[in-house]
Amino acid sequence: MLEEAVDMLACRPGKIIVDGTLGGSGHARRICEQIVPGGVFVGIDRDRDAIDRARRVLAAKGLRIHIVHGNFADLPLFLSQLGISGVDGILIDIGLSLHQIEASGRGFSFGRDEPLDMRMDVRSEVTAADLVASMTERELTQTFSRYGEERWAARIARHLVAQRKTQPVTTSGQLARLVSEAVPAAAARKQKIHPATRVFMALRIAVNRELEALDRFLETAVDLLNPGGRLCVLAFHSLEDRMVKQRFRDLAHPCTCPPRLPRCACGRQPRARLLTRKVRRPTDAEIRKNPMARSTRLRAVEAL
Ligand SMILES: C[S@@+](CC[C@H](N)C(=O)[O-])C[C@H]1O[C@@H](n2cnc3c(N)ncnc32)[C@H](O)[C@@H]1O
Repeated sequence: MLEEAVDMLACRPGKIIVDGTLGGSGHARRICEQIVPGGVFVGIDRDRDAIDRARRVLAAKGLRIHIVHGNFADLPLFLSQLGISGVDGILIDIGLSLHQIEASGRGFSFGRDEPLDMRMDVRSEVTAADLVASMTERELTQTFSRYGEERWAARIARHLVAQRKTQPVTTSGQLARLVSEAVPAAAARKQKIHPATRVFMALRIAVNRELEALDRFLETAVDLLNPGGRLCVLAFHSLEDRMVKQRFRDLAHPCTCPPRLPRCACGRQPRARLLTRKVRRPTDAEIRKNPMARSTRLRAVEAL
């Protein structure tokens, strides 16, 4: 949905656009091409590797480019440090980059045996191995169940807690094997995904406090837009998409008056217009080309 998301931002020469999740710089490159000449591009990522890559691949004459290593939740701070008081577009494409899964060596994938780290920003303190070692059985169950919507959360947590008494869980391969052991074989055979998929996603969300970051970002993002500026979110996880949907609805329809009142008495004014009444999903052709994109959901609003 690269094209669709960038189109939604309505980039034009001279615009000021933020990409809060640079990743492999795919969206960023497309945006930069469209805002030259005279544009300003601000690119952010928590992952140092994404920052280094962006510094290598993003360059254009007639464009001011700022690359920031940090959390998009801190966007108000970054913009004020750059002396930018309003922007014309903000994109975030949340989740993992291909690089993080395939080449970071930080244990994001159950298909590789790597140190169980899962930090997007290696400056943060807590790794996935720390969480698996320190959380109680109840906390592990809640994490797998809430963030991973994992049906066998309690069984998996019980097995991990029993096993870690004899051997600490320090690699992604070890974790994937323990999760597979805990899921009943008949249930695992019926699943289309690897039995450890949801546990890995849940741990990663917990390690990086991803829902807190999204919540903080959504709280202020629209206020950073110039009138007519656009905010566009690509979410992969249903919990994240629900947060975006709810927040966008509140921005567009904030009135809390009962429907029987002839006119609004609460005085809450809309701050944005929905650009996606219905969520946008990738087409079958896009999914065939890139199966990882199958769960992506795109929503956007325009500031009033
Ligand atoms: C799906 S990738 C982005 C791909 C990118 N749009 C592209 O075209 O290549 C997600 C990226 O978001 C980054 N990320 C996730 N949460 C973040 C946050 N709260 N702040 C900054 N970056 C974040 C990850 O480190 C990762 O590099």
